Amino acid sequence: MKIDGIAYRSVWLADDRWSVHILDQTKLPWSVDILRLTTRDEAAHAIKSMQTRGAPLIGAVAAYGLCLALRADASTDAMERDAALLNATRPTAVNLAWALNRMLTRLRNTPVAERVATAYAEAALIADEDAAQNEAIGRHGLKLIEAAVRPGRPVNVLTHCNAGWLATVDWGTALAPIYTAFNAGIDIHVWVDETRPRNQGAALTAWELGKHGVPHTVVADNAGGHFMQHDMVDLVIVGADRVSRTGDAANKIGTYLKALAARDNNVPFWVAMPSTTIDWTLTDGVRDIPIEERSAAEVTDMTGRLADGTIATMRVVSADSPAANPAFDVTPARLVTGLITERGRCSASEAGLLSLFPERQ
Ligand code: MRU
Repeated sequence: MKIDGIAYRSVWLADDRWSVHILDQTKLPWSVDILRLTTRDEAAHAIKSMQTRGAPLIGAVAAYGLCLALRADASTDAMERDAALLNATRPTAVNLAWALNRMLTRLRNTPVAERVATAYAEAALIADEDAAQNEAIGRHGLKLIEAAVRPGRPVNVLTHCNAGWLATVDWGTALAPIYTAFNAGIDIHVWVDETRPRNQGAALTAWELGKHGVPHTVVADNAGGHFMQHDMVDLVIVGADRVSRTGDAANKIGTYLKALAARDNNVPFWVAMPSTTIDWTLTDGVRDIPIEERSAAEVTDMTGRLADGTIATMRVVSADSPAANPAFDVTPARLVTGLITERGRCSASEAGLLSLFPERQ
């Protein structure tokens, strides 16, 4: 996707063809800073600190992180250790483990002397496949937006967090159908949940939609139910960090509440994700998907730009109040209208997923 007319991906190789570029997402929307990762530890830090984030993207960055690690030591012991270290950076998005397992499966049978080149080739494949899968999600999701067109008003889509191109290698998941519809000339408008505590909606989704020219409005997280009650939301589309084989979907904290409001108001609630986000080992997502607990400081403090342009972080909670910060919640399959994958749409159920991925029987 483009920033001011220039095409970007969210991760790419530098001109030296070995170091790894990412956009520093902790600096958006105030500045577009490109970071250069040169070591395993820099890659791990970028994922953990959320300089890079979003389920598919952290998988791709971890794959490149393993390439950087192998440049330092390509022995089998070091490779297994470094993959485990990268895998421990964030617990909820299964794309991280998926990408590292794919790298290890390829590399364990590769002679040590060839491992670095093979790793870069595999990481590039992971990145390219993610971009292609998300583009396909856009095509399959477009049909839902076309079906929601009503004369005289835009199609109003509500989304939570950032499941756009910044969260993937390109296109995004929840935002891919929106970009595809916008590019096809459909009158569309997006309600962007601010997504406290880290404000991925306000800071990232609004920024990337704006850069693409997609009409949107940032709303407080608590506003969605009100808009649904007043026929101002035609459909909800969100991304996911891990989907069980039965269709339960983990996504950014607060997603579950949007699904409850959508059900109460008969608003379709769709989850868009590539198959790399499906955890085929889990049948009960609510019980078994690990939920990341992040620093209380993300709740007690807020960062923004002052009138003089300075970026400042300030505390918004009284000094002696503790805070809790679960980063994700799980929307049970019964509240999900359907799933949008690279192979098409299906019901949020084991039967639905197996109809698209019969090889997982
Ligand atoms: O904590 P984050 O910002 O990495 O969480 C991201 C989300 O919850 C996204 O909705 C999800 O990863 C889908 S990304 C296409």
